[in-house]
Amino acid sequence: MEKAINTLLQKQQQALLGGGQKRIDEQHKKGKLTARERIDLLLDPGSFEEIGMFVEHRGRDFGIDKEIYLGDGVVTGYGTINGRLVYVFSQDFTVFGGSLSETHAEKICKIMDLAMKNGAPVIGLNDSGGARIQEGVVSLGGYADIFYRNTIASGVVPQISAIMGPCAGGAVYSPAITDFILMVENTSYMFVTGPNVVKTVTHEDVTSEELGGAQTHAVKSGVTHFTCANEASCLETIRKLLSYIPQNCDEPAPVYPYTPSNEIREKLNTIIPDNPNLPYDMRDIIHEIVDEGSFLEVHKDYAENIVVGFARLAGRSIGIVANQPAVLAGVLDINSSKKGARFVRFCDCFNIPLLTLVDVPGFLPGTDQEWNGIITNGAKLLYAFSEATVPKITVIVRKAYGGAYDVMNSKHIGADMNYAWPNAEIAVVGAKGAAEIIFRKEIAAAPDPEAKLKELMDSYAENFAHPYKAAARGFVDEVIEPSVTRLKLIRAFAMTENKAVKLPRKKHGNIPL
Ligand code: HXC
Repeated sequence: MEKAINTLLQKQQQALLGGGQKRIDEQHKKGKLTARERIDLLLDPGSFEEIGMFVEHRGRDFGIDKEIYLGDGVVTGYGTINGRLVYVFSQDFTVFGGSLSETHAEKICKIMDLAMKNGAPVIGLNDSGGARIQEGVVSLGGYADIFYRNTIASGVVPQISAIMGPCAGGAVYSPAITDFILMVENTSYMFVTGPNVVKTVTHEDVTSEELGGAQTHAVKSGVTHFTCANEASCLETIRKLLSYIPQNCDEPAPVYPYTPSNEIREKLNTIIPDNPNLPYDMRDIIHEIVDEGSFLEVHKDYAENIVVGFARLAGRSIGIVANQPAVLAGVLDINSSKKGARFVRFCDCFNIPLLTLVDVPGFLPGTDQEWNGIITNGAKLLYAFSEATVPKITVIVRKAYGGAYDVMNSKHIGADMNYAWPNAEIAVVGAKGAAEIIFRKEIAAAPDPEAKLKELMDSYAENFAHPYKAAARGFVDEVIEPSVTRLKLIRAFAMTENKAVKLPRKKHGNIPL
């Protein structure tokens, strides 16, 4: 037995060393942690249970059969985050650049299968040179096995991808199918084709960082949901993110302790400027409404004219979708519609109630928007809100104009409770546009057309720029003073807690992609 135990210990030691101390040192020199150090930071101390430590690759070509590293470039297993089960894989760049072989893929698939069967999130820590070149098509097949599982697991268990090094070629499509991507600034990048291919094909000179670094994907493409200054903060953000999310689609999100106290927030009466055309930061409203310090913004730097994120209200998770008047006056455009729709669908998959805060002057006009498909893309947000069956509550805090009124979780598309603040303006178009269209002849015939326009605008505004016509119809359930919003929402979300809605039987809907 002693001999057998010694062999085991030797093998364990060998596996723990990955590609060897020299390569570990190189990894550290680049400012990167090793696969195992990352797992240690991610999981509760001492909770990691490894699976497949002694797996070896089966490559036989290009002399690779002489180079065997136990574990084959990926550390896989399970553990806990804040006491809750998660499955994790962490690619080891010290072994063949973290490249994905047949067996490396099998290890990832094994924990994905376990995650689906046991109903717990999968977290992937990606740091890989892509398909193991020496293995050819079996490596490509391994990727496809993972992509397939990412798709089947979508909406069943939460899937989170951290990019902590290279992620190139078709490899990007596994993170892309998962629910959230986090990138580490300066040390991670994602692209389908790298700078050299780009130079050859399009003659563009671009660095890896410009083409697919964290900032690029946070601001320009929206591929990443979070950027993190370093690996430790990336892993901490994953822990925080999971605190809002249930283990799987059949469970509720965790509930945090909450002691009821005075929930009236006078500051809410003062945030919106008197002049309806002035901007303000919607985040100021969000912070006042939700439990202190609980707002976690998602996609913060992308399509900033809409704000989305998780928060807690009286200890319970909610997802927030809010127009942002501080950017482009809060209009809906292509990118903000896609961003909002994706977030709404995530919340609906995982039983997270939705709060919608509305201050929207309409959809963004222009050839750029029309030619790039604002019709199809705007419809995504409309579709996402309409199909969502979680509790859905809306507060119109200022403007709700045109189609955007319908889209932003109106009563008509299934909202459970709709509130409006007393200054809300709910109409087809703004006063000027309305007067110019419906009173065109009267204005032209007037001795002083400008004075007439003003008079008619004022009369239109008096008639429509308030919430009481909508309240008279029941499209708005209650007009409330801003200061009571938190209290109303706590009660309304408690009231809708057991909401159960069954959609008509279908294979799946056909969201306008
Ligand atoms: C086998 C690989 C590898 C790969 C890196 N290595 N990528 N081995 N297959 N895909 C090995 C290197 O040979 C090297 O081994 C070690 O990992 C570290 O790599 P370096 O090049 O020294 O590191 P660095 O300078 O940091 O550059 C990292 C890199 C580069 C940018 C990722 O290695 C690279 O360009 N790799 C190839 C990328 C690629 O073309 N992959 C296939 C993409 S297509 P030694 O022993 O010398 O230290 C793809 C398709 C997926 O992935 C399809 C899904 C459908």
